[in-house]
Amino acid sequence: MTLIRIEPAARLTGELTVPGDKSISHRAIMIGALARGKTTVNNFLASADCLATIDCLRKLGIRVEGRGTRVEIAGKGLTGLTKPAGPLYVGNSGTTIRLLSGILAGQNWPVEISGDDSIKKRPMGRVARPLREMGADIEGQGSRVKGQEEIYPPLKINGGNLKGINYLLPVASAQVKSAVLLAGLFAAGETSVTEKVASRDHTERMLAHFGAKISVQGPVARVQGKEEFDAADVEVPGDISSAAFFLVAGLIIPNSELRITNVGVNPTRTGIIDVLHRMGADLTVENERIDSEEPRADLTIRSSQLKAIKLDGAIIPRIIDEIPIIAVAATQAEGVTEIRGAKELRVKESDRLKTTAAELRKMGAQIEELPDGLRITGPTKLRGTMVESYGDHRIAMAAAVAGLIAEGDTVVNNTDCIETSFPGFEKLLKSLR
Ligand code: S3P
Repeated sequence: MTLIRIEPAARLTGELTVPGDKSISHRAIMIGALARGKTTVNNFLASADCLATIDCLRKLGIRVEGRGTRVEIAGKGLTGLTKPAGPLYVGNSGTTIRLLSGILAGQNWPVEISGDDSIKKRPMGRVARPLREMGADIEGQGSRVKGQEEIYPPLKINGGNLKGINYLLPVASAQVKSAVLLAGLFAAGETSVTEKVASRDHTERMLAHFGAKISVQGPVARVQGKEEFDAADVEVPGDISSAAFFLVAGLIIPNSELRITNVGVNPTRTGIIDVLHRMGADLTVENERIDSEEPRADLTIRSSQLKAIKLDGAIIPRIIDEIPIIAVAATQAEGVTEIRGAKELRVKESDRLKTTAAELRKMGAQIEELPDGLRITGPTKLRGTMVESYGDHRIAMAAAVAGLIAEGDTVVNNTDCIETSFPGFEKLLKSLR
């Protein structure tokens, strides 16, 4: 098991790029596999989670050739997947299991899909319910949570003969929305998904980029089933969720200035920019351009005095993966920061409300876990100590950034998990001093 030792940093400066976007990388592989012909993906995130997606598609009969961040997928169209010899394994990747479940629901053969111990605790009823409504048979490991049936991996999916549905998403989840839209590609007629609160729309954009029959009107996305589409090359922007760790580091360490180029700035993902601006950050967004239907830009951050903020409602899905690092920023902000309406964080790679509060508290933060959020009083001087990742990449990286402003050294335990989304994180962080 690896660990990271962090010494306090006097300042951070420099220009950097972060690895490719995780959500977009998964979708490029999956949708490329369903297209007709060869798709090349550039700046692919070659991290454990996205490699799990490649591994699953290979087991489904798709040739994928990868050389680092450049990947080629020999797509075989909507009827090209073949029954795997054994169960599919997604490791730690929630996006792989949920999105792939949508695709597997459209196949005429049974398949089993599972992952590591963390995946086996992630709720799958949210994808099983709409996919069953479309006609797939899905079974998992059952339990009842507050009177409602919940299922967990391993999942047994027996699909085929799907019909289109109109689905109103009960939770703001791009993974559920995407599973339904991807299943819709195989269904008879039209499938629509309506969101009460907008979640990331990379699936909709990627399908449009490939020329699939998708339309989006306000909160409703519609896909026409059984319509083939052709391969399209994809240029993946840097992952804003990875950039977020450097944005906050540059902000809270005095005399720092960091420029992060080629970062994805899809509006469904830029909550972190809005939040940091509202907290008083000197953060500029320049050179915005669009490629592969996805906007990207260069971000410059300079250390700033921060003020506390209240976060709730529609902003939450736009910062869903950034809340642990926002909590680190809040420990240095003047006043009481409150994050509410975020109970989805309890079913991520760890219970992030609990793990963020526990580890920052060990470092001296004034942080309180609320049923649906966090309350943080700042500013507080943090102190270096031994902290845990709970096998959650975002907790490990948030703790490492907190360590940069702590008094004394911080040791983050169990940091292998960082590989799931950000290979090279430690080296990059240490190169900016
Ligand atoms: C993701 C959606 C979000 C996010 C996850 C990636 C995606 O999950 O937390 O890291 O790629 O669709 P939910 O859909 O469960 O909110």
